[in-house]
Amino acid sequence: MTHPIDDIVARRDAAQDSPAGTPLGGEAPTLVDIPQAELAAPHRAGDGLASTEVMHRGSARVGAATDSLAMLEARSISAWFGDRKVLDRVSLTMPAGQVTALIGPSGCGKSTFLRILNRMHELVPSAALAGEVLLDGRDIYDSSRRVTDARRQIGMVFQKPNPFPAMSIYDNVISGLRLTGIRAGRRELDDLVEECLIKAGLWKEVRDRLRQPGGALSGGQQQRLCIARSLAVRPRVLLMDEPCSALDPTSTRRIEETIAELVTEVTIVIVTHNMQQAARVSDECAFFLASQGTPGSIVEYGPTSAMFENPQDSRTYDYVHGRFG
Ligand SMILES: Nc1ncnc2c1ncn2[C@@H]1O[C@H](COP(=O)(O)OP(=O)(O)OP(=O)(O)O)[C@@H](O)[C@H]1O
Ligand SMILES: [Mg+2]
Repeated sequence: MTHPIDDIVARRDAAQDSPAGTPLGGEAPTLVDIPQAELAAPHRAGDGLASTEVMHRGSARVGAATDSLAMLEARSISAWFGDRKVLDRVSLTMPAGQVTALIGPSGCGKSTFLRILNRMHELVPSAALAGEVLLDGRDIYDSSRRVTDARRQIGMVFQKPNPFPAMSIYDNVISGLRLTGIRAGRRELDDLVEECLIKAGLWKEVRDRLRQPGGALSGGQQQRLCIARSLAVRPRVLLMDEPCSALDPTSTRRIEETIAELVTEVTIVIVTHNMQQAARVSDECAFFLASQGTPGSIVEYGPTSAMFENPQDSRTYDYVHGRFG
């Protein structure tokens, strides 16, 4: 059976015949071209590889079918706000069908990195970046790619739940579709709303009040509503920036369960300050650090278990054990 979201998105794609499309957020920043000077590469935890190890993995998935799980790969990402460099040559592979956690002290560039992964960094007027973000081997910043496609395929959930408060739960879920101009039948939309709410772990709690406003839900329910809204445009990657930091422990646990269920269909990247949460939800973990006014970079990355139990860098050890940050 064809998935209702696939039908709707396929029709939307067919309807968009302009390859350039219209950027959601105005003019794209200039890509700053910088020489590939040698920098110490980060450690990969647990496997004792040399510090010069190249971080790209999983190339077998390059060019994978678009309906399969997606791998996201950042290559040598640097970022600036005005003259200030805030990220320095960050490379990271976020494997398909896994949860990758980004950890590190405040201000080290985690949110900036996350926003670069779906082209939201360029919404900031002073922002610039260098590097590549490959979704299954294709650069989302390539001039032939539509910015709207990047943001549809790579969805984002923010720290503070941001549903449209006066809009119904039902309309909140499909609001992303409406913004992209997709028209769908009532039955299709009903199926889509139910499917996304089930996937977001909210259906049972709201099935009898879909016409009530999204703002009437609890904080944890609102966050799951935002997840459902993200899922409605059929993303292949979901970025989550501290999605539980405003939630109580029960809601947090519910979101973590939702993440565990979603990752069978969507590749997930999550920023968290909660080390227990990183350990619980993620398969892979990357530790960011910006020491003494220098731009943020990755100190170490690898399987979460190795990062927590056998990190190669003493700064990683200190951070995951709560000694700073
Ligand atoms: N819109 C902006 N304009 C100028 N500087 C910014 C902007 N957003 C972030 N920065 C700066 O970029 C650096 C990285 O910020 P970022 O928000 O990515 O850090 P973070 O690791 O997500 O921090 P936190 O854990 O506190 O959320 C910081 O020094 C911050 O002050
Ligand atoms: Mg942040």
